[in-house]
Amino acid sequence: MLTIAEASQWMALSEEEFARRLSSLQVAGGDSVSAGSDGNGADELVLPGLKSGRGRCVAHELMRKLTPSPKNAVMTVGIQKGGVGKTVISLNLAVALSMAGIRVLFVDCDPQASATNFLLPEDQQYDHLPTLLEVCCEEPVDFCVAATATRYAGLDLIASKPAVRKVDAHLRKLNALEFLREKMNGTTERYDCVLFDVPPGFGDLVRSAYLLSSTVLMPVLPDVWSLESASLTKADIEEAAEETGSVSPRIFLFLNRFRSGRIASAEVLEVLQENSFGQILDISLPETAQIQNSVNNGMSVLEGSVPAARQVFLDLSSRLWHQGG
Ligand SMILES: Nc1ncnc2c1ncn2[C@@H]1O[C@H](COP(=O)(O)OP(=O)(O)OP(=O)(O)O)[C@@H](O)[C@H]1O
Ligand SMILES: [Mg+2]
Repeated sequence: MLTIAEASQWMALSEEEFARRLSSLQVAGGDSVSAGSDGNGADELVLPGLKSGRGRCVAHELMRKLTPSPKNAVMTVGIQKGGVGKTVISLNLAVALSMAGIRVLFVDCDPQASATNFLLPEDQQYDHLPTLLEVCCEEPVDFCVAATATRYAGLDLIASKPAVRKVDAHLRKLNALEFLREKMNGTTERYDCVLFDVPPGFGDLVRSAYLLSSTVLMPVLPDVWSLESASLTKADIEEAAEETGSVSPRIFLFLNRFRSGRIASAEVLEVLQENSFGQILDISLPETAQIQNSVNNGMSVLEGSVPAARQVFLDLSSRLWHQGG
């Protein structure tokens, strides 16, 4: 959940304006929310019916009532290079968006299924869960049918499993892009944002995810291989867009593990600035042990104890949501 300060910042509103909107919601919704004081001079919200009960935080359900109208955004976090932080970033971005009241459908395209393992509740039975494989190979199963709830309010998942590696062989026989576009029908009513986490490479599934997206967030590490990969990925997306008559997505480069004062970081940044692989975001992700362990520990950095990392994802999600970057 977001604190009131975070929620108003996320919406680019003053706390006064945020409070005003909350009280008009109170008028409109009867006793669904009430704002008051916790006796220490700080704002307090009472949220009947929500798990949180009382607290100075704003839950997804309430943020949902306050966020601007739906955008039906489709985003991919991707680059052809492996191990650059695609999954860590897409997961935390999805959690941040859902905390801000956006209804997100996370599509785990990676047969390693680490995002799936992270997002599903601990007691969830995997065996009968429809995954992207069933979406692609079974006629009645589309994104809405396969979507399953996660541990986070407002964040649903299309799960993955090792057999998802077979999806490309199936898509090769079809017009993959049109096929997946049809499978996505109905998501615009249920979700504000569909977010793809893709594995490295540029197979039919990954290629279609890029082409279905209006925004691509490309994580870049401070090394020469990331530079090469950013350049290749951009070229491949543009070529595929031309071949299929699609609009190329906007590409935003998100610097991960860059360190000021490090020669490699400065040199890579200089090359990125000189070349137009994509717009470089001025928000970046530092290297921390907490991020390193977050997926293994099953805890998003938004729940953890490093406020800086939480702030990065709140800023990133707000920026992508309000300004497309
Ligand atoms: N900023 C960071 N600080 C510390 N560790 C990080 C950071 N970003 C990513 N990592 C770690 O790097 C490893 C690779 O990250 P992740 O799995 O998200 O990469 P990926 O691009 O999705 O990999 P793949 O290509 O295999 O899908 C993970 O162990 C992750 O925790
Ligand atoms: Mg990954």
